[in-house]
Amino acid sequence: MSTSAEQPFVAVQASPHHAAGSPPAAAIPDPDQAVASQVGTFDNARLRKQFADQGAFLYLDDFLAPEVTAQLIASARGLLGEVNRNYLPGHKQGGSVSRHTIDRLAPFIAALYRSKELIGWLEQLTGDKLMESPADDPHAYALYYYTRAGDHIGWHYDTSYYDGRRYTLLLGVIDESSCRLDYELHTRNPDVPDMPGSVQIPPGGLVFFDGDKLRHRISPARENEMRVSLTFEYVTDPNMRPWRRVISNLKDAIAYFGFRQVFSQFARRNSARRNGGRA
Ligand SMILES: [Fe+2]
Repeated sequence: MSTSAEQPFVAVQASPHHAAGSPPAAAIPDPDQAVASQVGTFDNARLRKQFADQGAFLYLDDFLAPEVTAQLIASARGLLGEVNRNYLPGHKQGGSVSRHTIDRLAPFIAALYRSKELIGWLEQLTGDKLMESPADDPHAYALYYYTRAGDHIGWHYDTSYYDGRRYTLLLGVIDESSCRLDYELHTRNPDVPDMPGSVQIPPGGLVFFDGDKLRHRISPARENEMRVSLTFEYVTDPNMRPWRRVISNLKDAIAYFGFRQVFSQFARRNSARRNGGRA
């Protein structure tokens, strides 16, 4: 792996309106160059085979360049005051920060999400042409916080409500916890026996999977623990049937980001569409 001294940086613009999720004095890494320097050292043919053999699933304990990980950790800590807490008895307890808040306060994360190098590498793994999730999808990029005893999410799939596939990229940011990602491979493939697994994702680690194929959960946090993960969602077709949009928005409002975040953005975008413009 490259040392941090070899990583390229771009200059930070001095601004009186500094983003709250970014540290004030650190150089912000260039996402494309930082990703390229990492994936250029990987045996990508082997990773592509591993992803396919595991039923569209890959875990790497060391993926991000160290300076990118450091930037994400600073952003995650800077956004603690923006966390929206949710509790769904028997299924989920925890906090989240949606892409709309990230856009305002931690633009480095949005830039990393859009990195052509990152998307290109994921396309190599999947063999699919990948697109960003639409602008009104609060999951497109989001931070998930496990900061109180019992914070967890129960067994589920990251079901795609889009017409095509939806892939989840999960990046470890902070892990001062006993939380584990437990998963089962091949559950949707009758020809291959289910294969259970469990990982604790360190900062800079990666899990990448087809959301409709991986059954998974995050085990409960204990007292005085903290875990933050960053997820990026990419789709193969950004269209969504209207009734699925309703279900998806309700789920996001109740289980993740709150009604104000989800529906104000949705209304703004629809209004912009009616006016022939973009949200
Ligand atoms: Fe999930």
